[in-house]
Amino acid sequence: MEYWPAESIWEQVSPLLAGFTVEVLPEIDSTNAELMRRARAGQTEPTLLVAERQTAGRGRLGRPWQSAVGDSLTFSLGLPFSPRDWSGLSLAVGLAVAESLHPDIGLKWPNDLWWQDRKLAGILIEAATTGGHSQVVIGIGINIRPRPAEGLSTAPAALSELWPEATAGQALLRLMPALVRVVQDFERSGFAPLQPRFEARDVLRGREVGTSDGQQGQALGVSATGALRLLKAGGECLIDSSEVSVRPRP
Ligand code: BTN
Repeated sequence: MEYWPAESIWEQVSPLLAGFTVEVLPEIDSTNAELMRRARAGQTEPTLLVAERQTAGRGRLGRPWQSAVGDSLTFSLGLPFSPRDWSGLSLAVGLAVAESLHPDIGLKWPNDLWWQDRKLAGILIEAATTGGHSQVVIGIGINIRPRPAEGLSTAPAALSELWPEATAGQALLRLMPALVRVVQDFERSGFAPLQPRFEARDVLRGREVGTSDGQQGQALGVSATGALRLLKAGGECLIDSSEVSVRPRP
């Protein structure tokens, strides 16, 4: 079993988040699925759930999320959460993770962390409402050590390429306080105050992109609500659906 600085994480986060607990499991189907099950069963205390191995990791758009034991960090944070507007939350989460880990990590709208045009990490946000209270489950998968492309067109990036001594535990310790602070800022004030910080790391801005629903144009950045601004032949449009994926065009 890998070393997890669970106590240090708890010491840093519990002053920010009352009732916070940390749990590390050797194996589970999916940390997101587990925290969603708990939320639906009324267990809503703020929880960080880390899995050394996921047997059915979930990605966005119904895709699977595969990760090799020891080579990646897979975890979810579940907590009660009632923002006025949820739009832009995945961008805020990506921002906290990128800023806490390395100055050179970029953000690819809406949910990915990129380095040198390769995916370094992904984010899956789910929400549950029980008894009139809403709960958010923020799932994050980060490649820590390089792994083969395995059918992907480009090999994913790994945190150890930017931070050679990186371990999953150290990465988690660095990012957790920043993540909790951003989530709390977002709950109070939404995405707008975070937009300039996102813009500084936006890897799509100024590039020609294509969307999975067939749109093409130049990415102009993100709006104050976290929508992608796309300049098409007919003018600028906003894309705010998280059901869409975007890629830079070669
Ligand atoms: C994506 O890029 O499609 C999102 C990937 C999210 C993966 C993480 S790993 C921890 C958490 N549990 C899951 O089943 N998925 C998220």
